[in-house]
Amino acid sequence: MATAEETAAAVMTATTTATATATAASTVTPSTPTPAPTPAAATATDDAPTPAAPPRVPIPPRGVDYRGKLVLAPMVRSGELPSRLLALHYGADLVWGPETVDHSLIGASRRINPRTGMVEYTRQPSHSYSASAGPDHDPSAPLESVIYRLDPVREAGKLIFQLGTSDPARAVAAARLVAPDVAGIDVNAGCPKPFSVSGGMGAALLRTPDKLAAILAALAREIPRDFGIAVSVKIRLLETAAETEALVRRLVATGIAGLTVHCRTPPMRPREPAIRGQLRMVARLCREAGVACLMNGDVEGRDQAAALVREFGVDGAMIATAAERNPSCFRAAADGGLAPWPEAVERYLRLAMEVENKIANTKFLLTQMIPGKAPVYREVHRCKSYTDLVRALGHADQLGAMARETDRVLGLGEFEVRREPKQKAQQQKQQQKQQNGDGGDQQQPSKKRKREEPEDSERERERERERERENAANEAGKQVTELAEPAPAVAPATVAV
Ligand SMILES: Cc1cc2nc3c(=O)[nH]c(=O)nc-3n(C[C@H](O)[C@H](O)[C@H](O)COP(=O)(O)O)c2cc1C
Repeated sequence: MATAEETAAAVMTATTTATATATAASTVTPSTPTPAPTPAAATATDDAPTPAAPPRVPIPPRGVDYRGKLVLAPMVRSGELPSRLLALHYGADLVWGPETVDHSLIGASRRINPRTGMVEYTRQPSHSYSASAGPDHDPSAPLESVIYRLDPVREAGKLIFQLGTSDPARAVAAARLVAPDVAGIDVNAGCPKPFSVSGGMGAALLRTPDKLAAILAALAREIPRDFGIAVSVKIRLLETAAETEALVRRLVATGIAGLTVHCRTPPMRPREPAIRGQLRMVARLCREAGVACLMNGDVEGRDQAAALVREFGVDGAMIATAAERNPSCFRAAADGGLAPWPEAVERYLRLAMEVENKIANTKFLLTQMIPGKAPVYREVHRCKSYTDLVRALGHADQLGAMARETDRVLGLGEFEVRREPKQKAQQQKQQQKQQNGDGGDQQQPSKKRKREEPEDSERERERERERERENAANEAGKQVTELAEPAPAVAPATVAV
């Protein structure tokens, strides 16, 4: 009988074949979950003892089984919607969205973009105004910023939302907001950067296992029951196998259905090779608890992933940087393998315009996909609009009209409109309030107002933290390939970089 790991590897390979016939992201065929051996199938003779079926944390009706899957890793900046759609197009079985901090989601509004049909979670920027806006915008009004955008059709049943959190109640409150739109909720317990760790999130949770377990248990109690989707966690390895084992034993008992292990310890740099010494042990603990185990770290493509799954007995694999460079790494060699970068870049550019992706993010991704030595690399850096980009990349004939319309909507290039600076707009707002008699320093604060003050100052402190994280993120962005995990989406401007 095939072992569980052989079956998972076979399913991953089978997925490849299925995706070979896929012509669009929406038609990528999902893998068949590994069938759990039934006692009947496993019994050779009537009087032989019936081996117990391995346990499985039940997969809720709208959820996904992570077994047999090759998935796109969560990546701040690099995991925005067009990147995820491109990964799906090239055969990724599931896609993780970029880490989004619970604070940032709570208080966001959900809307469907009438032009694109995309679901967008938006907020008023708390600390800055965009420099430009399309001609349809009222220049005195602050722009709403999109903090999370998803495709309700092409990502249906495939998108896992990753939360940055350090508190069970907040995690549940944030997860409840997005749960109807996604196929799973994941908790980031691996980011070692100061802006995450200082808030007690990310890798800090590895050192506070009680808190991490409480967050996962709270999510696993409420989210599958109320929304029919599963909960998972992404961790890093700890220094010793004994430490990792104690942690994993604890986490797999919380009710989660999946665990991804990034095979580096928190202090390790991304360029250091992933270490696999503890992987078999983590896979075994997950299997014993009925939790699917995905491996992450230096996975380069589908064929290698299938071999690693077989070798280490995990259920599937997750790819980050190789997919950032070329999302066609999800395609097996037998189905065409890695696409030439100009092909991937053209597809990416179309998708970015289709979903109205922020130009700065599009440029950033393009510079990850275009080799630094290519002459167009520098040109892309200088582009200020989609029209500039399609021209620089030689697609003006086919994509020129689309680029112009995207520029019009986003207020780029010839459509750029200078906006009022923040202070002036705030002064105008204050003046307006005073004219309306509904505010001002002279007024005695009412009891209601008094009660709101602590909340307001908490909000101000959170804004301050957002500003600090944004600065860190901007700094991180300059050296993004050097960083383990850049800033999570804590504030609209952070997502926009
Ligand atoms: C640009 C970038 C952004 C990342 N953002 C996140 C994130 O939001 N959440 C997370 O858990 N890990 C994040 N990571 C870490 C990756 O998900 C992954 O664990 C790591 O890059 C190792 O995988 P790799 O060897 O395939 O690159 C990020 C990595 C990169 C390169």
